[in-house]
Amino acid sequence: MRIGLIGLGRIGAFHAGTLSTIDAIDSLVVTDILPERVRQVADRHGAEGVGSVGELLAAGIDGVVVAAGTDLHAPLILACAEAGVPTLCEKPVASDAAAGAALLRRLAGNDVPVMMGFQRRYDVAMAAVKAAVDAGELGRLTTVRSTTMDPEPPSRDYIAGSGGLYRDCGVHDFDIVRWVTGQEAVEVYATGSDRGAPFFAEVGDVDTATAVITFADGTLGVVSNTRYNGRGYDVRLEVHGSADSIAAGIDPKWPMRDATPGAAGADPQPHRFFMDRFADAFRIEFETFLDVAAGKQPSPCTVADGLEADWIAEACIRSAAEHRPVRIDEVRIR
Ligand SMILES: NC(=O)c1ccc[n+]([C@@H]2O[C@H](COP(=O)([O-])OP(=O)(O)OC[C@H]3O[C@@H](n4cnc5c(N)ncnc54)[C@H](O)[C@@H]3O)[C@@H](O)[C@H]2O)c1
Repeated sequence: MRIGLIGLGRIGAFHAGTLSTIDAIDSLVVTDILPERVRQVADRHGAEGVGSVGELLAAGIDGVVVAAGTDLHAPLILACAEAGVPTLCEKPVASDAAAGAALLRRLAGNDVPVMMGFQRRYDVAMAAVKAAVDAGELGRLTTVRSTTMDPEPPSRDYIAGSGGLYRDCGVHDFDIVRWVTGQEAVEVYATGSDRGAPFFAEVGDVDTATAVITFADGTLGVVSNTRYNGRGYDVRLEVHGSADSIAAGIDPKWPMRDATPGAAGADPQPHRFFMDRFADAFRIEFETFLDVAAGKQPSPCTVADGLEADWIAEACIRSAAEHRPVRIDEVRIR
């Protein structure tokens, strides 16, 4: 297959490396607004570099991966869908949920498949957690806990365009707790704290946050995020039920020290960031997308599905600002 890649920054350059090693991809066409990045990635991975999104969409591609900044997701998804090209777009759907809802309205009647890139759904341990929940092994769910602790913050420019911690980072957790429980969130109570670099306050963001989520069936969710987890990249999904408990992310490279006297020492090289922690999940996500693009299966995470996580983020932002529980219906725009 011939696949396009738009955006060659931190994650796009990494995705180029993965895409270029997938056997089913015969040729990779890449673009970025920075010609130097196009040259570098094309040279490194034997890809074809082109100067614009328009050129890329006209290059006879079977599918496209969007890895440009969050503010470009909605317009690029629309452009790709209108060009008839199946699309896998990095999370989140848009800069805010209102922009995502506007995109959804614009896509009405267009059946070109779009898949949102929430790679945790393809992590083998997280998929095993979901299979256990679906099989009823946990009994009645009581608590689901999702944690994303980044080792260090991205750049000021990235934070400024990211939409903030809930929309940019927490959105992974909001997606995975919906997915694993099969339940919709009805209410959140969130709070944030900022003691990090000055730019967080300058752009109105926080560096650490926690959200408590109430799901429709009464299951409670707890989401923890920070941009400053010195020990490493800590991503965990823990589900407790009346019959059993199960977790993903408590593996040998989990960046945590066990204080039990005599406990084995922690791995000196714990998970560093999304590139190592989710390398296999990204590959499986891309292979799934190739099947979607080839018409072999429907999109496993549509724009509408991905957008639900954005509404939870919007409710968290309002909850933290107003210091009160916020129902998802208060923020949702149809
Ligand atoms: N799934 C994950 O775990 C994960 C991790 C990191 C980032 N992301 C997402 O990936 C996206 C990109 O993040 P990043 O950290 O790589 O950002 P980045 O700023 O490093 O890269 C963005 C790239 O897009 C390019 N770009 C800007 N406008 C463009 C245009 N019109 N056409 C083509 N290219 C254009 C920029 O020049 C830059 O190279 C964000 O939406 C972010 O939310 C996802």
